Amino acid sequence: MEPRLAPFPASRPRRTRATAPLRALVQENTLSVNDLIWPVFVRDGTDVEEPIPSMPGVSRRSVDRIVTAAKEAAGLGIPAICLFPYIEPSLKTEDCAGAWDPDNLVNTAIRAIKDAVPDIAIMTDVALDPYNINGHDGFVVDGEILNDETVEALVKMTVAQADAGADIIGPSDMMDGRIGAMRAGLEAAGHRNVTIMSYAAKYASAFYGPFRDAVGASGALKGDKKTYQMDPGNSDEALRLVARDLSEGADMVMIKPGLPYLDICRRVKDAFGAPTFAYQVSGEYAMIQAAAQNGWVDGEKVMMESLMAFKRAGCDGILTYFAPEAARLLNA
Ligand code: PBG
Repeated sequence: MEPRLAPFPASRPRRTRATAPLRALVQENTLSVNDLIWPVFVRDGTDVEEPIPSMPGVSRRSVDRIVTAAKEAAGLGIPAICLFPYIEPSLKTEDCAGAWDPDNLVNTAIRAIKDAVPDIAIMTDVALDPYNINGHDGFVVDGEILNDETVEALVKMTVAQADAGADIIGPSDMMDGRIGAMRAGLEAAGHRNVTIMSYAAKYASAFYGPFRDAVGASGALKGDKKTYQMDPGNSDEALRLVARDLSEGADMVMIKPGLPYLDICRRVKDAFGAPTFAYQVSGEYAMIQAAAQNGWVDGEKVMMESLMAFKRAGCDGILTYFAPEAARLLNA
């Protein structure tokens, strides 16, 4: 569609901006509580809420406090919560067996939330990094991140999460062939309605820094993730990966990070029309919070503007640490 404007003064685009009701009528995109997924960090213990210094306003919560948070989120109308575990450094191993333990922190939290807050969807993370002694998303042997062996472990992890009650499986590992393998594993285990939101286009990004503090992987990580996460210079490759993941059985796809990659969101939405999500990651959150705390920007306004940008770029929803705060403003 060609944009057309009559010559001035027949057209004065400021007419439809002149008052709040006119602006509301012509607004093209809207942000709603229904668009939000809230990522939270689970740790062991009871009645603990431990602030994460590099993510002001975000805490690691014990399972009982996660249940409280899930209740709060459901009360605000947030459709989904996404769980990430903080694993004590002394419990990280090379074989990552904790990842598919039916009684690990995440699976325990899933069951507790399902029990207490049945109406919120639970999303999980599938990758080995929180459990891995070297902080990588896959098994490392002689400096190589093994693909196929990792995929086998991820399938076990996926089925354990689905058994515990997860609604949305979120593979963030970027191994090849994982979506097909996970989908087959879920079908074989009878989990026909468990959805997969594939981290299809996940870039090797420095914006994940504060998250790695949050899950305790910063000190552990040896090297970088460039042999499995994408090169920030690439765009066509993202389309190929999204096409592949959809063809292997992903129900929804994600682009990550968010704001620096809105061009990818738009291309993916236009090319596939599939449910498309973006992850406004820890570094993006931390930058906004840091500037707001210094009084350099209006934190609330920048938060809402940044979330609207995702909708404008074609996203159906956003994973954001701002979810409860944004929901409170949207509900006000
Ligand atoms: C790891 C994972 C990461 C994030 C989600 N899952 C970090 C990484 O790939 O190193 C990042 C989330 C954020 O920065 O908020 N599988």
